[in-house]
Amino acid sequence: MKILSVVGARPQFVKLAAIADAAAQRDDVEHIIVHTGQHYDAAMSDVFFADLRIPAPDVNLAIGSGSHGRQTGAMLAGMDEVLEEHQPDWTLVYGDTNSTLAGALSAVKMHLKVAHLEAGLRSFNRRMPEEHNRVITDHAADLLLAPTEVARAHLAAEGLTDRTVVTGDVMTDVCLRVAASLEDTPVALPEGIDPAADYAVATIHRADNTDDPARLRGIIEALQALDMPLALFAHPRLVAKAKDAGIELAGGAVHVGAPVAYPDLINAVQHARAVVTDSGGLQKEAYLLGTPGSTVRTETEWVETLENDWNRLVPEPADLTAAVMRPRPTADRPAHYGDGHASLRSIDALRERA
Ligand code: UD1
Repeated sequence: MKILSVVGARPQFVKLAAIADAAAQRDDVEHIIVHTGQHYDAAMSDVFFADLRIPAPDVNLAIGSGSHGRQTGAMLAGMDEVLEEHQPDWTLVYGDTNSTLAGALSAVKMHLKVAHLEAGLRSFNRRMPEEHNRVITDHAADLLLAPTEVARAHLAAEGLTDRTVVTGDVMTDVCLRVAASLEDTPVALPEGIDPAADYAVATIHRADNTDDPARLRGIIEALQALDMPLALFAHPRLVAKAKDAGIELAGGAVHVGAPVAYPDLINAVQHARAVVTDSGGLQKEAYLLGTPGSTVRTETEWVETLENDWNRLVPEPADLTAAVMRPRPTADRPAHYGDGHASLRSIDALRERA
């Protein structure tokens, strides 16, 4: 059986690591990897393949950045030839990026079967490009691999029960595996932060936070006012938007570093006192690793993380400093995201329906 994975952006490489590994464990599975080129900086792409030991992509469309329509359209055009050549039994798309939507649409239009990994997540915020991407992809796909019961319920509410299988969350597979392999690996933080003392970790990249200069300034000022040092691993979009708006990211508690490799991020989060982010993946990783999170958004797709205040939604920058400094919760963190075997379950769901 031939599975063709379409990936392009950083969080998809993490999910791909789990899937590539599971595919390799099944003798009857041939796995083709297509990289759209949505993320192309070495720190946003290559290091993930190297550190997570993902096989090199069979095809790289090298699409790069652009407006949503141009970027997605270029990927669609590029995918035709790839799918014609490979004729996969399943095209597997991941998460909610423009690469997900393009992969799903191109396969559907060629009458090839599509499976959506991480199906059924909803923010119910129609301003987010990710929300359009996931809703459209779920409705286009033939098989919906849902990470949680909440995701299953969303799909059921949209009439998609028959196509849904709950597998658990594949990012959890990778997070737990990588965390267990780190043991005493030293934590690497931007200069000026002592990893042995209290520190926080932050990433901010969503358009809602970066593209409005007043909002971005509010977020950065709140982080700079923290009582402990904060490692800000800065996405290229954040760096570019801060520069345009004349906002200096470093200062006060904030120490700026480049985006880091996945094991380095997990190591930093595992030992941190707090995490601040607008990333879906990092909210969940903080939860899995038992580090309290503050999510700079009005809503989250990963609602389970909010239980017992392990993750807190902080839409107002003015509330951020106090939220980040809150004490670590003492209550449970139930294992909502599966047992670390979601990727094998996903591959088997495809094999059963080839
Ligand atoms: C994309 C996903 C988002 C995901 C995020 C992870 C969509 C709609 N969004 O957002 O869901 O959480 O990836 O990082 O698909 N850039 C570079 N080098 C790169 C990549 C991007 O400099 O390797 C810069 C470019 O200026 C680009 C901007 O970052 O225009 C945004 O990149 P893009 O891939 O469009 O979206 P992300 O914000 O990364």
